[in-house]
Amino acid sequence: MRKTVAVGMVGCGFYAQNHLHAWSDLGAEGAVLSAVCDRDPARAEAAGAKFGVPHFTDMNAMLDKVGIGLLDIATRMDTHRELAAIAAERGVPAVVQKPFAPTWEECIAIVEKARKHQAWLAVHENFRFASAMRAVKKVLTQGTIGTPTWARLSWRTGFDVYRGQPYLAEEEKLVIQDVGIHILDLARFFLGEVAHLSCETQKRNPKIRAEDTATIMMRHTSGAVSVVEATYGAKRGDDPFPETMLEIEGDGGSLILTKGEKMTVTTQGLTFEDQVGGPLLHWTSRPWHVSQEAVLHTNRHMFERVRDGRPADTSGEDNLKTYALVEAAYEAARSHAAVKPAIWLPQA
Ligand SMILES: NC(=O)c1ccc[n+]([C@@H]2O[C@H](COP(=O)([O-])OP(=O)(O)OC[C@H]3O[C@@H](n4cnc5c(N)ncnc54)[C@H](O)[C@@H]3O)[C@@H](O)[C@H]2O)c1
Repeated sequence: MRKTVAVGMVGCGFYAQNHLHAWSDLGAEGAVLSAVCDRDPARAEAAGAKFGVPHFTDMNAMLDKVGIGLLDIATRMDTHRELAAIAAERGVPAVVQKPFAPTWEECIAIVEKARKHQAWLAVHENFRFASAMRAVKKVLTQGTIGTPTWARLSWRTGFDVYRGQPYLAEEEKLVIQDVGIHILDLARFFLGEVAHLSCETQKRNPKIRAEDTATIMMRHTSGAVSVVEATYGAKRGDDPFPETMLEIEGDGGSLILTKGEKMTVTTQGLTFEDQVGGPLLHWTSRPWHVSQEAVLHTNRHMFERVRDGRPADTSGEDNLKTYALVEAAYEAARSHAAVKPAIWLPQA
């Protein structure tokens, strides 16, 4: 008999709309959206009505009333520690949106709490699940360009991100913590762990509180070198928002991903081109579809791993390694010196 998992959505704000649509699509595979919760009653009610499920304004009340097998927490980071702790204590698997938490110490506290209760915990780090990034990973895994030696991962835009997410203008840490975190995760995904990094930040928009531009250079433990760039302050004619541009050189060739999710692979003197993006879905629209379709793949991964009792690729423990790069980048920007990312060692 097919195993189903009842999904409870927590937070029904701006980005959670994508989660809700994705869960709705995944119902056919056995991930059954069963309840929604937002502390804003109007948002909770609207999501419940739209997706035909009961709505709540309190996560505990939702868990008391509905048998939930996976909590999808898409609230902002300041609430993740409290909500993940409830999930751990009640033994309900939980996935929290990125950023994991506002500080490294809080991220560790969330992971430690889940370990104490032997609770399944993951972070919704969706960029690495996008169709284009899966296609890139496949080329690397097949060895088509040999061993990667150098890469540039670039996310540069002037798109008005503050319109949909006005709170970003007030964040104490901005572009590295908000979107750089995705690009740093991709660097790990493609090139492996990082030995040390340096970073320079800039604030180009005078109306915001924190940095909106970051340039990070990393030495990976493999010996490869990567440059990770992220900005909300670019003024570009052909703005690629929200796509990640990639150049990866290996000892046997190269891979370049350009706007429109066009991948160009060169190996043994031959060059191949391919469109590697996913199709538009009934609920996605340009230009957001790149990010939206990644939510569908991420949610599917979370559901399948919970169903099968296996950790997610982006488990809480894995995501600490990405978060350590964020922390190291801020420290490097402050000190103008190379920084080794922190390593978390579980308590005995
Ligand atoms: N992965 C991505 O590509 C991506 C893109 C955009 C945003 N995000 C992340 O998604 C998260 C949410 O961002 P957003 O822009 O949707 O924020 P938002 O403010 O629009 O939505 C958050 C919602 O959570 C609700 N909420 C807060 N505390 C709650 C609680 N204790 N119980 C129930 N509901 C609660 C709020 O009422 C609000 O409706 C952030 O962490 C953000 O970084 C990720």
